[in-house]
Amino acid sequence: MEENSIMQEDIVKTAREEAEKAEGSRALYEVKMKFLGRAGIVTSMLKKMKELSPEERPSFGKKVNALREKLEEGFAAAEARVKQRELQEKLQSETLDVTMPGRRQKKGALHPVTRVKNELVDIFAGMGFEIFEGPEIENDYYNFTALNTPADHPARDMQDTFYLSEEYLLRTQTSAGQIRFMEQHRPPIKMLSPGRVFRSDDDATHSPMFHQMEGLVVDHNITLCDLQGMLDEFARTMFSSSSKTRLRPSYFPFTEPSVEVDVSCAACGGKGCSLCKGTGWIEVLGAGMVNRRVLENCHIDPDEYTGFAFGMGIERIAMLKYGINNIKLLTENDVRFLEQFKD
Ligand code: DAH
Repeated sequence: MEENSIMQEDIVKTAREEAEKAEGSRALYEVKMKFLGRAGIVTSMLKKMKELSPEERPSFGKKVNALREKLEEGFAAAEARVKQRELQEKLQSETLDVTMPGRRQKKGALHPVTRVKNELVDIFAGMGFEIFEGPEIENDYYNFTALNTPADHPARDMQDTFYLSEEYLLRTQTSAGQIRFMEQHRPPIKMLSPGRVFRSDDDATHSPMFHQMEGLVVDHNITLCDLQGMLDEFARTMFSSSSKTRLRPSYFPFTEPSVEVDVSCAACGGKGCSLCKGTGWIEVLGAGMVNRRVLENCHIDPDEYTGFAFGMGIERIAMLKYGINNIKLLTENDVRFLEQFKD
């Protein structure tokens, strides 16, 4: 008996020592199996029961069970220790430095041409205009002939055209959309048509591709006064509440009479400065009363209906509004330039 319990204490001691030495849960598991596994020490002791006399068996069995319980307790504690240590190590290796600077997300901004286009759409949509977008590849009829500019018309020289073939070209003006729209709609008409246009032209204020915004109104009793009233409203919203407009006689084949529209210089308030070259006025768009021939080409009776139309360069408006002196800045997409247009 005595001998037995000493033996048991030895087993528990050895198990404890080996468990302490075990590095990690895998090694600990192996130690545990050595004592408590199917081929372990405890099982082999129980197997020995057969060799004992029936009187000895109960007390031996009790002892082995007590040994097993002790070992189980010991291993449970060892397992908890190892798990805790492993967790600690894991947490340490995965530490998060919350003081590290984050990765900066650059916030984009709308291109100034897009901004001005959106503003124009807002202004005119508020007056009841409908948006129409025509094709960039046009034929000669819509870009010129239907706009009262036949093949031999000298006004064709005003716009250096990129021809794709005899018949097709890159539209030189969004005015082509007027015809397309009037072919599909009857008066009352209030159309606004933004889009890209193309001309073989290239200097500080001209680019081979630029954007225009076309406007067209056709109804009973439309007059030049309606045009000027609407343009005043546009200038006040786009530039400054004290902006004024003035109409100068001009010529476009598709309008009669035709005008060029100046806005009082927002930089000097009309007194005269370098931006307006001392005149106090800045030219912003072309406009006029829709030529009878154009209405006829679209089967609208010019004796019943009249209309006005206008067309403006969006880059030009953006340059005036933001004081940009070279149109190339608007296509180079230099981030240092574009960043200045953030809200
Ligand atoms: N299409 C003309 C241009 O590109 C601008 C223009 C002038 C449009 C008068 C119009 C207008 O609608 O009535 O130069």
